[in-house]
Amino acid sequence: MAIKWDNYFAERTRHITGSQIRQFFALTERPEVISFAGGFPGNEFFPRENIAGALFKIVMEDSRQALQYGPTEGSYDLRELTARRMRLEGAECEPGNLIITDGSQQGLDLLSRILVDPGQPVLVEEPAYIGGMSAIKSYGGIPVGVEIDEDGPLPSKMEETVIRLHKEGRPPKLFYTVPNFQNPTGATTSPERRHKILDIASRYNLIILEDNPYGPLCYEGEVPPSYMALDREKRVIYLGSYSKVLIPGIRIGWLAGPQPLVDKVSMAKQTADLCSSSLGQQLAWFLSRDGFLDRHIMRLTELYREKRNAMVGAMKRYFPAGVRFNVPRGGFFIWVEFPGHFPTGRELLELSLQRNVAFVHGEGFSSNGGGMNSARFSFSQPEIEDITLGIKILGSLFHEVEGNSSLKAVGQ
Ligand SMILES: Cc1ncc(COP(=O)(O)O)c(C=O)c1O
Repeated sequence: MAIKWDNYFAERTRHITGSQIRQFFALTERPEVISFAGGFPGNEFFPRENIAGALFKIVMEDSRQALQYGPTEGSYDLRELTARRMRLEGAECEPGNLIITDGSQQGLDLLSRILVDPGQPVLVEEPAYIGGMSAIKSYGGIPVGVEIDEDGPLPSKMEETVIRLHKEGRPPKLFYTVPNFQNPTGATTSPERRHKILDIASRYNLIILEDNPYGPLCYEGEVPPSYMALDREKRVIYLGSYSKVLIPGIRIGWLAGPQPLVDKVSMAKQTADLCSSSLGQQLAWFLSRDGFLDRHIMRLTELYREKRNAMVGAMKRYFPAGVRFNVPRGGFFIWVEFPGHFPTGRELLELSLQRNVAFVHGEGFSSNGGGMNSARFSFSQPEIEDITLGIKILGSLFHEVEGNSSLKAVGQ
C-alpha cells in the first residue's frame, strides 16, 4: 500500500507549499524556450577562468580553511571584508555583527524562524519577492502588502496598514523590503521615502528587514543610502548576497544586524547547516580581497545595462501602446502591466508558452490576490538576440490579443 506522506508531515509544515517560480523552471528549462522567467544571472558573465584559478590556489595553498568545517558565523576573513564593504556604503558594521549565510535566502529563512510567530502579520511590499513571502509563510506568518509605486512603498499606505493591524489587535513587528531594483518591479525606494519609512518604523516599533541583492548592479544614477546607513536606532537587519555580483553556485550571502539578533541567528544556523560552505566563502574572499570583484561588478553593470536596453528597446518597438512597463535603473527585472481588456497575465503566459517564450505572471508576487494584469520580465539571463526575438514574438501575440479583444468589444 502506498504511504500517505501527508499523514506523516509535522503540523508546522502545513504552511510549506510549492512556489510558482519553481514550477516554471521545469517548463523554461526546455532548450527551445526563451525564458524571461527566472531571476538568474547571465551564464556567460560568470568569471570562469578567475574562479578556476582561484580555486586551484585556494585548495593547494590553504586547504585547511577551504576544505574543513568552519565557524557557524562564517570565516573571519570574509566577514571582515564584507563588513568593510558595508562601511564604505555608510552602514555601521563590524565583523561581529555580520554572519555569513547560504545565500540571502537562508537569511530570510532563519530570520522568519526566529522572528515570526504563527498567525503574525508581517508587512511586505505589494508586490513582493516570492522567496521572502514563502519564508515568512513557511513559519506561519501572514504577509500583509504595502502598496508600492516606482519610488517604493507608499508611506501613507504603510502607516494606514500598521494602524489597522494595531486596531485589530495584531500589531506587526516587521517590514520586509527590497529597496533597490526590487524583485519583482525593478522599483527603487527614494531617499525621502526611506526616511519616512524609518520614521514610521520608529513610531510603531517595527524592525526593517532590508534585502539588497541587486544594489551593486546600478546602471544609472546613484543608489540611495541603505536603511542600515540611515538608521540611528539599530532597528534594521540587512541581507546581502554574492549571488548576483559573483555566482549563485557558491550560495554565499550575509546578514548584518544588532548583536543580540545576530547571536540568535547564529544559534539557529547551527542546527540548519553547522556552517556555510567553507570553499565558497574562501572563493568569495579570494576574489574580493584584491579588487577583482569591484572590477567585475563594473563590467557587469555595462553588460546588464546592454541587456536591459535591449529589452526596453524591443518592448517600445514591439509591444502595443497600452502595455505599460517601467525602465529600471538597475537589477534584473522589468514589471509589465496589461490593459484591463487583455486576458490576465496567467492566460497570456499560457499563450506565450505555446510560442516558446516564458515570463512570470504577477499573481504569485501578490499577498492579497492582486497582480492579475501584470507580469515580471527578467532580462538578466537570455542573450541579447534572444531578448529581442522573444519580445518580438510576444509583441505579435499581444497585438493579436488586442485585435481580438477590441473585436469582442465592438461586438458587445
Ligand atoms: C530579493 C531577493 N532576495 C533574496 C534572493 C535570494 O538570493 P540568494 O539566496 O542567491 O542570495 C533573491 C534571489 O533571486 C532575491 O531576488
